Amino acid sequence: MGYKVAVAGATGNVGREMLDILAERRFPVSEVVALASSRSIGTEVSFGDKTLKCRHLDTYDFSDTDICLMSAGGDVAREWAPRIGAQGCVVIDNSSAWRMDPDVPLVVPEVNADAAAGFAKKNIIANPNCSTAQLVVALKPLHDAAKIKRVVVSTYQSVSGAGKEGMDELFAQTRSVFVSDPLESKKFPKRIAFNLIPQIDVFMEDGFTKEEWKMVVETKKILDPKIKLVATCVRVPVFIGHSEAVNIEFENPLSPDEARNILREAPGVLVIDKHEPGGYITPHEAAGEDATYISRIRDDPTVENGLVLWCVSDNLRKGAALNAVQIAEVLANRKLITPKQKAA
Ligand SMILES: NC(=O)c1ccc[n+]([C@@H]2O[C@H](COP(=O)([O-])OP(=O)(O)OC[C@H]3O[C@@H](n4cnc5c(N)ncnc54)[C@H](OP(=O)(O)O)[C@@H]3O)[C@@H](O)[C@H]2O)c1
Repeated sequence: MGYKVAVAGATGNVGREMLDILAERRFPVSEVVALASSRSIGTEVSFGDKTLKCRHLDTYDFSDTDICLMSAGGDVAREWAPRIGAQGCVVIDNSSAWRMDPDVPLVVPEVNADAAAGFAKKNIIANPNCSTAQLVVALKPLHDAAKIKRVVVSTYQSVSGAGKEGMDELFAQTRSVFVSDPLESKKFPKRIAFNLIPQIDVFMEDGFTKEEWKMVVETKKILDPKIKLVATCVRVPVFIGHSEAVNIEFENPLSPDEARNILREAPGVLVIDKHEPGGYITPHEAAGEDATYISRIRDDPTVENGLVLWCVSDNLRKGAALNAVQIAEVLANRKLITPKQKAA
């Protein structure tokens, strides 16, 4: 007996990964339903060796569905997650709509799996922003060892973080450069091909962007409200995989070797750190992988107890779809929900 799972946003970058990961990890399903907008009714998507035909989210009855993995954007999540939750189906949402709601747990299973148990107030669990997810996976074991005071992070975020339209825009602009066609920018505020853009999401009053603000508040909610963090988020012309240069200041001393050993044992982390050309991971190598890769661990000589490291992960997997499926696994493994069909 398994869970009936709906994937809302099944035609998108994240939704397709969710279907792949549910199949790869053999999540115990009785049935999987693919949902999207009216534009995609009948569109075929793959689930393992099966093909599913997309149905319309607006007309789907969730009353016998156990879990809805949702990746259809903030507006859809704001409107639909409470309605779906009210039908007794637990929504695991990828958008930013519910992340900071005090009645909604924000979960990265390697870091705060216990928080998932708080889902019942709204039947909603939030997935963090992609750049936060990989960062907290790397920070948690180091925080446990030497207590983090302050983090300075610069991100190098791939275009797939802006959905399939972001990938299409990089592809089209790159092609236009080679064939000398005029370049069109619709998804990004400036040209992204052979360029980079120091703005992700909208500007806030204090001059930070909303993506930078999300990294601050989400890290505090997931890991520790006392951690001070400042971020600069940059979009780069990479299709898949977010990278981060991270400076960490600790309360207690921690050597690069100690940090390397701690991270080698940490869940979800792989350390690739050879001090030779190519002895580190790039986003191209992380694409399609589940791990958060850590490289280039070294002392920061400008502060008392400081380290610098390089952190890379597949934003569509750990940054979104994999994390959502891992949350579903926590619900199932800890028996926080039971399949409705079994209960009936
Ligand atoms: N990409 C990442 O790295 C990442 C990481 C973390 C979180 N997220 C979040 O995940 C969500 C989806 O991202 P994505 O990259 O997969 O975007 P995407 O490739 O643009 O896909 C969007 C999906 O949402 C569906 N959708 C849009 N409007 C809808 C509506 N009114 N009703 C039902 N379905 C609707 C689309 O269906 P149609 O094909 O029918 O339009 C499509 O399946 C966003 O909230 C994003 O912020 C993304």
